[in-house]
Amino acid sequence: MTLAIVHEVSPAVIAQAVALLKAGQLVGFPTETVYGLGADASDPVAVARIFNAKGRPSDHPVIVHLAPGADVSLWAARVSAEAQALMDAFWPGPLTLILPRAPGVPDAVTGGQETVGLRCPSHPVAQQLLRAFAGGVAAPSANKFGRVSPTTASHVAEEFGDALALVIDGGPCEVGIESTIVDVTGDQPVLLRPGHVSAEALGRVLGRAVRTRAQIEAARALPRVSGALAAHYAPRTALELVATEALAQRIQALLAANLKVGVWSTAQPAADVSWRQAPAEPVAYAQALYATLRLLDAQGLDILLLEATPDNDAWSAVNDRLGRAVVGSGPTTV
Ligand code: TXA
Ligand code: MG
Repeated sequence: MTLAIVHEVSPAVIAQAVALLKAGQLVGFPTETVYGLGADASDPVAVARIFNAKGRPSDHPVIVHLAPGADVSLWAARVSAEAQALMDAFWPGPLTLILPRAPGVPDAVTGGQETVGLRCPSHPVAQQLLRAFAGGVAAPSANKFGRVSPTTASHVAEEFGDALALVIDGGPCEVGIESTIVDVTGDQPVLLRPGHVSAEALGRVLGRAVRTRAQIEAARALPRVSGALAAHYAPRTALELVATEALAQRIQALLAANLKVGVWSTAQPAADVSWRQAPAEPVAYAQALYATLRLLDAQGLDILLLEATPDNDAWSAVNDRLGRAVVGSGPTTV
């Protein structure tokens, strides 16, 4: 199979993508967050292909993507008033809701759990595809397991090559990091993954705080459950987060050790490094994050230094991804 990246999103391309999905094949498609690796969510064999292609453990659930106005009751057994309020406020958009699964949702989608993740993306090409498919499209981010998520069609092609029949090119993703995930199956909403839709924005709609499990457990002084995989979204090159005031000195130490250094910082260092300018504002930073990690990762450098970002709520989604990227990155040489 030869991979086609299709830049012109005509009705014929959408029809081709729908035909591939109906035939149990995988299609790369754009969303406003990151590119997805889509399969027919009602077809366990097709969903299994996602796990094979990604090299992902099969007990990890995948998000089901629905067109605006699709019948949620086909996928979720119950939609609480709070879940409905979040859908009304943030769909279509970068918010995934974890809901009780409806009977018939394949175990391959839910990872065998009693819940299902649903999301209605705002990207117009994703919506065209979902409307034409008229069903749920199961899609994780279109990257190999643990690696940096793709924010352009060519990133998807780099990850999968000919293992994928079609990638629809919808341009660079506007949000740039994965959707916010909220579990609304319990007696209080739980933030499973921070994202562009902030905890504060969720809390304003619900009229009560939306916290992570760790925050809830800390408040109740419960023993901690183990969190999600710490390492994720990671480049292969070693990666360090360095405070602004320590950056110049760290660069000098690495250059003195004859290392090739990449730097992503707000101000250009006065040193011989491969530098990209980092946005000073979290929305623009998130949008650029994965593409910049990929770009620096491809330059054959020994180490990447990222200027540490502010430690406040506005940066929490970015800081979550940066923390995981550091853990999963290549070994530090010095
Ligand atoms: O922005 C996004 O969410 C992108 C685009 C393509 O929509 N998708 C994405 O999928 O990031 P993925 O598979 O890379 O991340 C989905 C996360 C995983 O950590 C998975 O464990 C969690 O969502 N998830 C999915 N269904 C779940 C469920 N039923 N319960 C708990 N977590 C779930
Ligand atoms: Mg992912």
